[in-house]
Amino acid sequence: MLLLRPDDLPAVVDDLAELLVDAVAAGASVGFLHPLRPEAARTWWLGLESALASGRLLLWVVRAGERVVGTVQLRLADYDNGRHRAELAKLIVHRDARGRGLGRALLAAAEEGALARGVTLLLLDTESDSPADALYRSCGWIEVGVVPGHSRDPEGVLRATTFFRRHLGGAVVHDTQPRHFGPRGDRSQEADSN
Ligand SMILES: CC(C)(COP(=O)(O)OP(=O)(O)OC[C@H]1O[C@@H](n2cnc3c(N)ncnc32)[C@H](O)[C@@H]1OP(=O)(O)O)[C@@H](O)C(=O)NCCC(=O)NCCS
Repeated sequence: MLLLRPDDLPAVVDDLAELLVDAVAAGASVGFLHPLRPEAARTWWLGLESALASGRLLLWVVRAGERVVGTVQLRLADYDNGRHRAELAKLIVHRDARGRGLGRALLAAAEEGALARGVTLLLLDTESDSPADALYRSCGWIEVGVVPGHSRDPEGVLRATTFFRRHLGGAVVHDTQPRHFGPRGDRSQEADSN
């Protein structure tokens, strides 16, 4: 499992593009409709360069020989109050390398990488009842909820998306106490001014 440096991107962009094209052709909901042109896929990956360079995006790849056959990424939250949080995205294994534990290994690498950087809350969304949905559940991710008709699959059919969360490193969630937000204020003045 290799954490990509920004300078490494051009050398692997063709393999990454092929991964995306292959996933879309196989019916995966990864943001694109079928058919995805290799050039459009390349452009999309190269668009990540500045996020990679700034450190806001972490991108892992796994190789079989010289060829990249799997990838995953973490998008770190931008806001000051969310530095402990990241979105996991684009977990993709090429069809000819699936079923050998690479998806699970990529997910573990991203989770370890998150924890090493003090990121203790991961979020993601994926097509409901897809192989990825099964993978996340089997790795301890907790379903937050389902949004019917959230995204189109590559053939253009609206499908439900399941949102998941995962708390890392035994992170304690301090949101069980009710919070007092103060009085609602004098609403009569508000009504007068309208
Ligand atoms: C999801 C994906 C990454 C899994 O990659 P993989 O290398 O085949 O996964 P693994 O071999 O590590 O399998 C791990 C677990 O995933 C689940 N899984 C994988 N493929 C599955 C399938 N076709 N059907 C049901 N569950 C499946 C199983 O729980 C499996 O555990 P098991 O082998 O002990 O039963 C791969 O199918 C893929 O690239 N899909 C398209 C892209 C995608 O949808 N990504 C998610 C975007 S959020």
